[in-house]
Amino acid sequence: MNTRPTVLITGASTGIGATYAERFAQRGHDLILVARDQARLEALAARLRDAHKVAIEVLQADLTRIDDLAAVEARLRDDARIGILVNNAGTAQAGSFIEQTPDSAAHLVSLNTTALVRLASAIAPRLAQAGDGAIINIGSVVGLAPEFGMSIYGATKAFVLFLSQGMSLELAPRGVYVQAVLPAATRTEIWERAGIDINTLTDIMEVGDLVDAALAGFDRREPVTIPPLHDGARWDALQAARQGLLGEIRQSEVAARYLADA
Ligand SMILES: NC(=O)c1ccc[n+]([C@@H]2O[C@H](COP(=O)([O-])OP(=O)(O)OC[C@H]3O[C@@H](n4cnc5c(N)ncnc54)[C@H](OP(=O)(O)O)[C@@H]3O)[C@@H](O)[C@H]2O)c1
Repeated sequence: MNTRPTVLITGASTGIGATYAERFAQRGHDLILVARDQARLEALAARLRDAHKVAIEVLQADLTRIDDLAAVEARLRDDARIGILVNNAGTAQAGSFIEQTPDSAAHLVSLNTTALVRLASAIAPRLAQAGDGAIINIGSVVGLAPEFGMSIYGATKAFVLFLSQGMSLELAPRGVYVQAVLPAATRTEIWERAGIDINTLTDIMEVGDLVDAALAGFDRREPVTIPPLHDGARWDALQAARQGLLGEIRQSEVAARYLADA
């Protein structure tokens, strides 16, 4: 019997999720692989079972469909072997805000935020009860940068960062590790799926490098891991600036610049 926790990975059929699957299998974890493309998941599962002698299950699900999502939630809630959730499935869209439609915006929000928070919410109480386990949420540096012109995608990733930081504060004292991982442009199919030619990008990280760095952060129990950020002190300064701003918020007093005679 495998004594290591089983890892459930969403969006495991390709890209960052498939690379996490490979790395966790190398580490000897059993896996549950979730995505829509069953054939691709089965092919990856067969290869990893063969190479790493771990148990791998495929759970086909479209995480924008409530019935499929509910089945994955139930599994996370009820299966005590699952000790790590990699909340990775996500999608991006090309085009400006006015080029999106309400339906395409809702689809993006549904996968990148609703599914992610529902899955985290399904597993977190059980992990907290056990006093052990980890949740990895894949965000993006786009969530720090409204300037990048991907307003809806960036907003979903800002949500992932905020949620992860809040969950980390709540759950770390209960023994549960929560990590936000913020990649920048990484070589996967996400670009092609969003209708963006990857060859137009000047700098791009290889997906193996991204996941290895993210796992280095995981092993150090970093709450936020940003593999392409070179000066780590910049992140600390951003958090310190945010804390400083919070110290200036006085709940009962309107700021002087908004007073009539200001
Ligand atoms: N690559 C980058 O440059 C980059 C940068 C920053 C952040 N990220 C984030 O990293 C995560 C992984 O992205 P990636 O680059 O690896 O993308 P990718 O290569 O396009 O892979 C996306 C994965 O999500 C799955 N997926 C898509 N829609 C789904 C749905 N409705 N239900 C279930 N699974 C679904 C896909 O599988 P199926 O099609 O089989 O369902 C696939 O396994 C995303 O959250 C993304 O926002 C990526």
